[in-house]
Amino acid sequence: MSEAKRLAGEKAIDYVEDGMIVGVGTGSTVAYFIDALGRIRDRIAGAVSSSEQSTTRLKALGIEVLDANAAGPLKLYVDGADECDPHKRLIKGGGAALTREKIIAEAADTFVCIVDPAKQVPVLGRFPLPVEVIPMARSLVARRILALTGGQPVWRDGVVTDNGNWILDVHNLSITDPVGMETELNQIPGVVSVGLFARRPADIVIIGGEPPKVL
Ligand code: 5RP
Repeated sequence: MSEAKRLAGEKAIDYVEDGMIVGVGTGSTVAYFIDALGRIRDRIAGAVSSSEQSTTRLKALGIEVLDANAAGPLKLYVDGADECDPHKRLIKGGGAALTREKIIAEAADTFVCIVDPAKQVPVLGRFPLPVEVIPMARSLVARRILALTGGQPVWRDGVVTDNGNWILDVHNLSITDPVGMETELNQIPGVVSVGLFARRPADIVIIGGEPPKVL
């Protein structure tokens, strides 16, 4: 499994151009991408990072981490996913970094998603959908999500996001209208962001293998 992640992560280097500021996601697949980026660090201008975890790894390899506001629009964002459907719509947030990931995805011209084959699904929802919430709204948001979707929200107890918020994981969903659900859940007061990447899906999906498959 991690071999497939490594092959996907290393393939994404094909999309890095000289002088770029690269948007960098979070997770074990991205860790392989960061390692490969470290080997060409002199060719890039730096990175915008989606998490403290990725920032630490980037800096350890001598890659400059830039503030998203200073960097402005990005040409490229590379990130993993927890699930990917045939339309390149994603569930993300298994690593609790969904909000910053979403910001960078939105800022990027091209979003390259790197996954192992097990992440491919016909319909999103087998993986519990992460939702980042303001702590005081946890219970309210959970009640609203249950009423709106029928899914079971479970508090990821003990996890605090890089933004100081909490995560609800919504179980037992079958997401036939990902754009609609993303839009609807975004409206609930106290929701910071929803781990559905459907309004802004990936542009390119790399599935790790020998050779990697590019969709
Ligand atoms: C973090 C994420 C990750 O991209 C997702 O959880 C996939 O992780 P991994 O590459 O370790 O399987 O969304 O918030």
